[in-house]
Amino acid sequence: MFVKSISAYNIKSSLNKIEIDDNLKFFFKSSEKMKEISTNEVNLIITSPPYFNYVKYGKGIGHETTYDEYLLNLKKVFEECHRVLSPGGTFVINITNMKSRLKVEKKSFLYPLVANVIKIMADIGFIFFDEIIWVKGNANNGALKGKPLFGSYPYPPTPKILDSIFENILVFRKEGKRKKVDKSIKESSKLTKEEWIEYTKGIWFIEPDRKAKHPATFPIEIPKRLIKMYSFKGDVVLDPFAGTGTTLIAAYILDRKSIGYEINNCFKEEFIQKFEKIIQE
Ligand SMILES: C[S@@+](CC[C@H](N)C(=O)[O-])C[C@H]1O[C@@H](n2cnc3c(N)ncnc32)[C@H](O)[C@@H]1O
Repeated sequence: MFVKSISAYNIKSSLNKIEIDDNLKFFFKSSEKMKEISTNEVNLIITSPPYFNYVKYGKGIGHETTYDEYLLNLKKVFEECHRVLSPGGTFVINITNMKSRLKVEKKSFLYPLVANVIKIMADIGFIFFDEIIWVKGNANNGALKGKPLFGSYPYPPTPKILDSIFENILVFRKEGKRKKVDKSIKESSKLTKEEWIEYTKGIWFIEPDRKAKHPATFPIEIPKRLIKMYSFKGDVVLDPFAGTGTTLIAAYILDRKSIGYEINNCFKEEFIQKFEKIIQE
């Protein structure tokens, strides 16, 4: 197997894997089976799953012909996540209800993704623990420039609420008690009072990452906050739908170990560029 080191950082890249030091492992394969991870090895999972029939990444979940099939495939990955997550561990899912498109579904409705994901997670045995609303700022990327474009404007009864304004961050727990951490690790993982107050407000105003080539990356501030809130230094953080590896980079910066799975290896290059840029900032 051809393995090479790239750049000043100890980045080792082979066909289906990138490794940085002994701290970050990024596998370019499906997360339906994560045989590289042993049972109960992970302390925290943070992910943003692909949406149904929306963004075409190339292959993987989201390309199914029916919504039910899509949910079944998501469930397979979440079950595998349950296996690798340690007792008392946290699993955070960033998702939102998805609007149908007239061109595709021929009628207007919402796919109830948030409700469906909560049900799937409960069926697997996770505890629904908390929730945060991520407000993405400027309505529809500001594309409307203040113009009222939607629905039956200016008359009732069918105005449409703007798309892409907020997303849900759902926090789940696996039953059980996590192992105690050393006092020194606990101390060095402490949040500041300002961080604590800001993060626990439950509504986060954070601009989306508009520069990314990947169509659905989340800004690094999201995994950074979640990692600080739900893990200790040295913990293992997993993202089973890693995309450009934002979660992994946040974990690396915050001295956590990380593992990622991404089925489309076309995001490899963007991951390396993003890693080097963020590390240098
Ligand atoms: C919403 S994106 C995640 C973006 C990521 N949070 C970031 O910041 O770059 C979902 C990703 O899941 C990937 N994916 C879909 N099915 C998968 C599977 N079975 N295993 C691993 N990755 C998969 C898609 O290719 C896509 O990149």
